[in-house]
Amino acid sequence: MAILEPDLSVNFAGVHFPNPIGVGAIGEHWGHAGNIDQYVELNSEILLKHVKAGAGYIIMAGAYVTPETEKIIRERTRFLETPLRRRNGKVGHRMLKLETEAPYGVEGFLFVPAPFYLDAGFAKATERRNVLMMKALKEKKPKDVPIVINLGGLGDIAETWVDGAKFFESLGADMIEINLGCPLPTGLGNSVDEYFSGNFTPVCKGALIGDKEELVERIVRSVVQAVNIPVGVKLSPETGFPRIINIVKKARDAGAQFVQLFNAGVGIAPPDIYNGGKPSWEYMDGSPFCMASGSFLRVPCYKDVAAIARFVPGIQIAAAGGLVEPKHFIEAMMLGATMVQPCTGVIEQGRSLIRKGVKFMKDYMVEQGYSSMDQIIGLGQKYIKYNEDIDMMPGQTLIQIDHEKCIRCGRCVDNICQALYMERGKVMVHEERCAGCGGCILACQNGALKLGLRA
Ligand SMILES: Cc1cc2nc3c(=O)[nH]c(=O)nc-3n(C[C@H](O)[C@H](O)[C@H](O)COP(=O)(O)O)c2cc1C
Ligand code: SF4
Ligand code: SF4
Repeated sequence: MAILEPDLSVNFAGVHFPNPIGVGAIGEHWGHAGNIDQYVELNSEILLKHVKAGAGYIIMAGAYVTPETEKIIRERTRFLETPLRRRNGKVGHRMLKLETEAPYGVEGFLFVPAPFYLDAGFAKATERRNVLMMKALKEKKPKDVPIVINLGGLGDIAETWVDGAKFFESLGADMIEINLGCPLPTGLGNSVDEYFSGNFTPVCKGALIGDKEELVERIVRSVVQAVNIPVGVKLSPETGFPRIINIVKKARDAGAQFVQLFNAGVGIAPPDIYNGGKPSWEYMDGSPFCMASGSFLRVPCYKDVAAIARFVPGIQIAAAGGLVEPKHFIEAMMLGATMVQPCTGVIEQGRSLIRKGVKFMKDYMVEQGYSSMDQIIGLGQKYIKYNEDIDMMPGQTLIQIDHEKCIRCGRCVDNICQALYMERGKVMVHEERCAGCGGCILACQNGALKLGLRA
């Protein structure tokens, strides 16, 4: 029987979400707002437009410290008020598109923010800004759309994470996502030394802290004990397999109900080879380690999602990293994610990715006969096996050549295959040499090669 209206809702950490698609946290939307009121108007509008396009929830990035904590931090932190950070009242940030000629295409982009040391009066300013943002969002969003706070804290000072979580809970947040995955601190002075010495400056340290299991455990536990709303942690692709497994176990045991996999990675811009190795960044006289996001993150994302679903039972997963097509959403969910959070895809394609994503999910479920998300989440897990347990049908597969589609470009006979050859301009295969591996399919841009079974 045909299913007319599939149910896209998910239960995530005990909260009901109308659908699993949300735009990954973005700390600063681009452009400049003149004052706090304009900031609130412009930025809440951006988040509400995501919802209008079909997003099932709002993720708002926020940080908060009390005036008391700010005093302590001031004594330990270098404050930056130099023309390099701010000029004419404006802070600078910059993006660089990463693109390679066909058949590769857009790979993502790099992002450098202004150095984000605290401004004087940080506590007061963020308090007002966040109160107004939450008020605007709560007034204007549909009732059933939850607000997830992507929480920033300062270094390894657990109190700053706790203060932030309690503050946003008091403003009506539905969930806290502790951001221990931000790649940006790697571009700040002394970050590498701090990582190895464990002596962190109390500014945002993101991925550097999220890679240390004892700190993840301590910060998560402190926040979980302080609030009554669900808490999860967002990690970095830099941690990687298999270290991330243990870190997520620690987070789970400390009370995290979900893990977000993951934030953007760390990148460095390619040097300009026609300009003596200068940065390919325009209007920048240096090249910092920076944020790198987009398509190229999808493979590590799937791997971490699959690994956590497999090895860390008892914690839910939100997937992010290179999800740039609607079908990627379903793929990540089949590997074990309950939520999907495209970010760079929305920057590249606009909100059409959200619209297409929701439509695709509905159509796909009807077509495939699924009525609820629970039928999809983790469905592919049972096929994740150890190599030695998989039957790859050795000796039974053989490459098939479609001579109608072949344009005789010769790519497939000009690489590392021992079985293909050209005879009078025609691609041929030595059948006894063909391992049926499918490698040559990579070379063919015309769909002329595919695997089949030997006769
Ligand atoms: C411009 C930009 C700003 C971001 N800001 C934040 C942030 O404040 N907090 C956070 O946890 N993640 C932040 N992210 C990371 C994204 O939420 C997402 O996890 C990551 O980019 C991977 O997904 P993607 O490949 O779809 O972009 C940001 C990403 C971009 C591109
Ligand atoms: S399937 Fe593998 S061995 Fe056979 S022709 Fe293609 S690349 Fe060569
Ligand atoms: S790469 Fe494809 S199109 Fe080119 S010769 Fe090989 S089979 Fe033909």
